Amino acid sequence: MFFFFSEKSYLCTNFQPQRAAIQPIETTMLIDKIDALLKEVSELQASNAAEIEQLRLKYLSKKGEINALMAEFRNVAADEKKTLGVKINELKQMAFAKINELKEQAETQETGSDDIDLTRTAYPYMLGTRHPLSIVKNEIIDIFHRMGFSLAEGPEIDDDLHIFTKLNFAADHPARDMQDTFFVRQSDDDVTKNVLLRSHTSNDQTQYMESHQPPIRVICPGRVYRNEAISARAHCFFHQVEGLYVDKNVSFTDLKQVLLTFAREFFGPDTKIRLRPSYFPFTEPSAEMDISCHICGGTGCGFCKHTGWVEILGCGMVDPNVLDACGIDSKVYSGYAFGMGVERITNLKYRVADLRMFSENDVRFLKEFEAAY
Ligand code: DAH
Repeated sequence: MFFFFSEKSYLCTNFQPQRAAIQPIETTMLIDKIDALLKEVSELQASNAAEIEQLRLKYLSKKGEINALMAEFRNVAADEKKTLGVKINELKQMAFAKINELKEQAETQETGSDDIDLTRTAYPYMLGTRHPLSIVKNEIIDIFHRMGFSLAEGPEIDDDLHIFTKLNFAADHPARDMQDTFFVRQSDDDVTKNVLLRSHTSNDQTQYMESHQPPIRVICPGRVYRNEAISARAHCFFHQVEGLYVDKNVSFTDLKQVLLTFAREFFGPDTKIRLRPSYFPFTEPSAEMDISCHICGGTGCGFCKHTGWVEILGCGMVDPNVLDACGIDSKVYSGYAFGMGVERITNLKYRVADLRMFSENDVRFLKEFEAAY
């Protein structure tokens, strides 16, 4: 027997619908309606926001098609509700997705349209600046580079052997004290195996000399660490630039001339230098170098504590013990070394009142140096 599942056949008196096998007509019609709407929604088109709003009202508003379906859904037999519910949900989600898609399309079309004003001034970009310590460090490197020094960098975490022992530090030197230095690892039986945050860049000398034979002419910038209470004038880390020159017949005169050239290049051609005798375990003789105070021109001011001179570095002739400890024959070669604090030199140039400002990352401070390089 053939019958069409139509309203008419359903109404035939001799036709007894069997609920389990055949759906009632309301359900079937509802399914057809949902299918038709699914097709319709999947093909929706709109060219502007107003049209999209119309579509939203048509399908998704309170009085829209999908809500109307919900009203019909309430009359569906309980055992059909599940399948139909899933279908209506699918339709609803598709309508949402489609309308959102149309909105996005319209927005990108709008921004891509010809109402862009190409003559308008661009939004200002925040320009980054170089850190004042980097500016000064680069300037120092540059000056020594012109005098034939090349760049060599060593480790910030190193062993006692390279930071102290090979640099001729006595076993009981205070720099080895817990109070002064940050130790990373301490060896029970052999002090030279202690590992620490270097307290000066002079370990770059031992590291470099171990793997290079003269002529050596290097400049080594880097960060160093000391166990200091942090204040406006001291910090637990700061920066140094180390210099090392080793060759045959190197004399103190060479050292003095190189340092004078540096001081004049960096602080100006009228700068004077003076060398005061001092002591470092790794140089003999040793000296500290002052420059004439370029703030008062040497007449005396608060900055130079009314002496007319400001100390900027330590230096000296490399101690023969250091050369020998690093595998360089001290009977054939001699050399000089120096080390300067980058913060100190930056302060002389830019007069930063508080050392902590260098590591606070306050952009207002950094912006002061926008024009400095
Ligand atoms: N290492 C010294 C310090 O941290 C600075 C120094 C002095 C380095 C004399 C040198 C030098 O190379 O010859 O105070």
